[in-house]
Amino acid sequence: MNQTQWTHLDQWFSQLLAPEDDALRLALAQSQAAGMPDINVTANQGKLLHILARISGARRILEVGTLGGYSTIWLARALPADGQLVSLELNPDYARLARQHLAAAGVADRASVLEGPATQTLTQLIKDQTAPFDLIFIDANKDDNPAYLALSQQLSRVGTVIIGDNVVRQGRVLDASNADPGVAGMRTFLQQLAAPGLTSTAIQTVGSKGWDGFSISIVEKA
Ligand code: DHB
Ligand code: MG
Repeated sequence: MNQTQWTHLDQWFSQLLAPEDDALRLALAQSQAAGMPDINVTANQGKLLHILARISGARRILEVGTLGGYSTIWLARALPADGQLVSLELNPDYARLARQHLAAAGVADRASVLEGPATQTLTQLIKDQTAPFDLIFIDANKDDNPAYLALSQQLSRVGTVIIGDNVVRQGRVLDASNADPGVAGMRTFLQQLAAPGLTSTAIQTVGSKGWDGFSISIVEKA
């Protein structure tokens, strides 16, 4: 198998099982036009997040890393009408555009974007004694993943589902001596997932984004 085949099969799966509506297409197109990095989850990955949120019965979702709001839309659409999603974004221009995309997708009543460094926002949410989230998707800068996880655990209850994107880093997570802070951050994150208090796994994926993977955890102690 090679990248061309992974891409074609991914496109077929996505068209068949995870078709995008106008709002999702708009979010991608405008994100690209605005010069955001082309690192959104794919449609079928978005659908996976949506299904995991539905399986877990999530009513409160936290996302770390909004980008243009593409994954945010997939997740927000998994919520009941009175559900809530909070997504954290460092870049104010990205946040502004993401809010437009959430409105176009009809989920602005449920989904909000908080601007600023996510470690600060998470710390503030903890201070504010925000109600625990049912599902947390960590998908921002990888060097801060250890802090995002530790803070996310403080915003969890027993049973909260924590999902991490991009756990493979082109295989470099195997290399303990790799100097890339994103690789080191992801290695530490994966080691944290092994600690008591979490039940975790990590799964490699291939598709139109190449070789990558997700971690999935359940919080056992909060
Ligand atoms: C990168 C980040 C992502 O969230 C992703 O899904 C793919 C790549 C990156 O920073 O390289
Ligand atoms: Mg990602």
